Amino acid sequence: GVVASDAMATIQLTDQYVEIHDGEMVQLTNTDFAIETVSGSVINRAPYKATVDAADLEKGMYPYYMLKEIDEQPAVLRRIVQQYQNSAGELEIPNELKQAVQAVDRIHIVACGTSYHAGWLGKHFLEKMAGIPTEVHIASEFSYNPPLITGNPLFVFISQSGETADSRQVLVKIKEWGYPTLTITNVQGSTLSREADHTLLLHAGPEIAVASTKAYTAQISVLAILAATLSEENDFALIHELGIVANAMDSIIAEKEQIAELAEAYLTDKRSAFYIGRGLDYYVSMEAALKLKEISYVQTEGFAAGELKHGTIALIEEGTPVIALITQAENASHTRGNIEEVRSRGAHTCVCVMEGLQQESDQLVLPAVHPMLTPLLAVVPTQLLAYYATLQRGFDVDKPRNLAKSVTVE
Ligand code: AGP
Repeated sequence: GVVASDAMATIQLTDQYVEIHDGEMVQLTNTDFAIETVSGSVINRAPYKATVDAADLEKGMYPYYMLKEIDEQPAVLRRIVQQYQNSAGELEIPNELKQAVQAVDRIHIVACGTSYHAGWLGKHFLEKMAGIPTEVHIASEFSYNPPLITGNPLFVFISQSGETADSRQVLVKIKEWGYPTLTITNVQGSTLSREADHTLLLHAGPEIAVASTKAYTAQISVLAILAATLSEENDFALIHELGIVANAMDSIIAEKEQIAELAEAYLTDKRSAFYIGRGLDYYVSMEAALKLKEISYVQTEGFAAGELKHGTIALIEEGTPVIALITQAENASHTRGNIEEVRSRGAHTCVCVMEGLQQESDQLVLPAVHPMLTPLLAVVPTQLLAYYATLQRGFDVDKPRNLAKSVTVE
């Protein structure tokens, strides 16, 4: 027997797992195990079978899992659409969940890291498409500053692994308080899924690289589907638009060499960098910065483009890389203004722009997709930039220092 805090850690050894609950002890020998509660009652719990396709666990031709997982994103997106489509070809979530969400007047999203960044896009979709006021919380901060709860809230936990301790401690509390809960996770049978009232799966296949990539785009897609199925005006053809995004992702991935060159031109020998953007591009900037810093160790901040001049612009020096994301027509000219501000202070600016909003001097033009779905696309080059910058520095892309795939301590 082996004890693990995440089933995925031992999936190459077995597919048979037994849960251990809070307040229980395990006695383990080479061939057997016994579970007891701290007060001495014997627990007999049947094992469950983890269903993971062995092929999903192989790197195949890829040098690193991260690159494989980046490349898988268009296929994951298409799989998600299939999984959430009913026989009439419409997007659908389980009826029980739909009714539960229709009864709420506020949603609280709770998550950490990349999943927290996806949560901001969830807020955008749930407010714009479904008209439900939504707040986003960092799980580890929740206890110190819990929201003022009024009316009928729903708590939504977003977690790739479904095992993150910071998120789980909030879930335990919310259950004590008696509010309904939904977990959006990649791992069926994970702790956060078992303990919540409802689960929506990401269907992204196992994510092995520590840096989360396909789970992030899967989280955004599932959040968009959740919001769209709650929307009363069905004027947003999400299935069709997600198909366009998947094709656009394919074309960016096919030209990844261009991004390897940008990584070399902008990030070689740099100790710090910035991503800037406004609105949805700001949310993606936060995620892009986390990706770059966690694997390449380039100190990177994701910043609201308009906020930079309120202090942080002091950090811009000759040659500081500033990567600007511009995917929204309504804020493009303002972000352009912020690019000029940093360029005039010596920044080495790189503009990643949506087709239709580009200028001749821009470095990377993304195929046009629906304005609400641009984060799904804009994040892909930033993942590749992080990947190539790390490769060029000679670090282990999949296993960055000081980090674990599932963070099972608070
Ligand atoms: C992302 O690249 C990270 N390694 C990390 O921020 C991660 O997203 C976070 O720890 C949350 O994990 P979860 O989604 O499994 O809960």
